[in-house]
Amino acid sequence: MKPYRPPSDPHPIREKFAGTRKELSSSLIERDDEVDLVLTALLSNEHVLLVGPPGCGKSLLLDAVMNWMSARRFSILLTKFTCVEEVMGPVSLTALKADRYRRVTTGRLPEAEVCFIDEIWKASSAILNTLLKVLNERVFENDGEAVRVPLKLCVSASNEWPSPDSGKELTALLDRFLFRKAVRPISSQVGRQRLLWHRDHVPKLSTTITTTEIEQAHREVNAVPWSKEAKDALETILRELSREGIVPGDRRQFKSVTAVQAFAYLNGADEVQPEHLEVAQHCLWDTPDEQPQKVAQVIAKVANPAGMRVTQLLLEVESVLATTDVRNLAEAAKAAAKLGEIEKQLAALSGNGRIEKARLYLRDQLKKLKLASIEAV
Ligand SMILES: Nc1ncnc2c1ncn2[C@@H]1O[C@H](COP(=O)(O)OP(=O)(O)OP(=O)(O)O)[C@@H](O)[C@H]1O
Ligand SMILES: [Mg+2]
Repeated sequence: MKPYRPPSDPHPIREKFAGTRKELSSSLIERDDEVDLVLTALLSNEHVLLVGPPGCGKSLLLDAVMNWMSARRFSILLTKFTCVEEVMGPVSLTALKADRYRRVTTGRLPEAEVCFIDEIWKASSAILNTLLKVLNERVFENDGEAVRVPLKLCVSASNEWPSPDSGKELTALLDRFLFRKAVRPISSQVGRQRLLWHRDHVPKLSTTITTTEIEQAHREVNAVPWSKEAKDALETILRELSREGIVPGDRRQFKSVTAVQAFAYLNGADEVQPEHLEVAQHCLWDTPDEQPQKVAQVIAKVANPAGMRVTQLLLEVESVLATTDVRNLAEAAKAAAKLGEIEKQLAALSGNGRIEKARLYLRDQLKKLKLASIEAV
């Protein structure tokens, strides 16, 4: 008798992404959105920039994703003294003798399949010019020859956004990143406790992914169809944004279609639904001052009202937990009643993947609150 083999998974690569998403989110505190963003960028063959204060886990996440990829890597921390040679490779002395100006690119950005550029705004003008072409056109000019680069993903981090008057080159560089997100410090009490009392936050990933698998994932992402509702929602969002004076460039609008397909794929969906447009909030703006918040509001209102409600309810949970002294029985009882009410409101919502997660979180918090006040007695 032949041994039993379970039926093969129709989407093994999608499963792999789902597994890594879970492993990253469970090690990193309050970084679910950033994890999703980096994986969506990888799936849509685009680059991602995270901007946030020092020590908020940007490198921890970006390094983990780089290590997950069994691909040629290049990492650099830019300073104003970093020279082109360090990024693109030194000029070949042999070629120079023959009057040629050719760079030896081994181990440098032009040969990398994944790269991490830290403190990207520190790039000198000379680096910027070459970087723009590598990131956008995936081409590197070496001794007059346009060489295609194998870059699949560039991840980048910084502590600040470039200032509006920092010049055209930096604005152009910001535009090379389809996904841009501000990272906030840990905000919940539970998160803070995990940060303080767990000694190791480095994600341990049980798989690796090859570039061939990533290319296959790109094909699968491009084949995810759009539902009529999601198409209508995207058009409504763009109309509403334009009314608010936000008109992302044509390239951004065009690329956000694949970005949303990638996010749907990451969520295991076989068709793009309006709720998957949530990820476009990180694509459809031009300047980082007020636009990202406005875009997020418009998208939440049009495409994901349930998701918006979940966020509001979770904020209420946090404020109840932060203002309750569990040793005071009357206060603890009042907080438990309030959390119970929020639980009912969550139970009445449907149509968003985050609802179940929020429910489990709330149930857990309620249990902890009750246990803590019993212990206090
Ligand atoms: N959200 C988080 N989850 C888990 N650990 C965290 C988180 N935020 C910070 N840490 C802890 O803080 C350390 C510093 O984080 P990391 O080096 O990734 O910060 P960063 O955002 O890259 O900072 P910088 O801007 O200075 O480069 C991590 O190694 C980890 O121990
Ligand atoms: Mg860092």
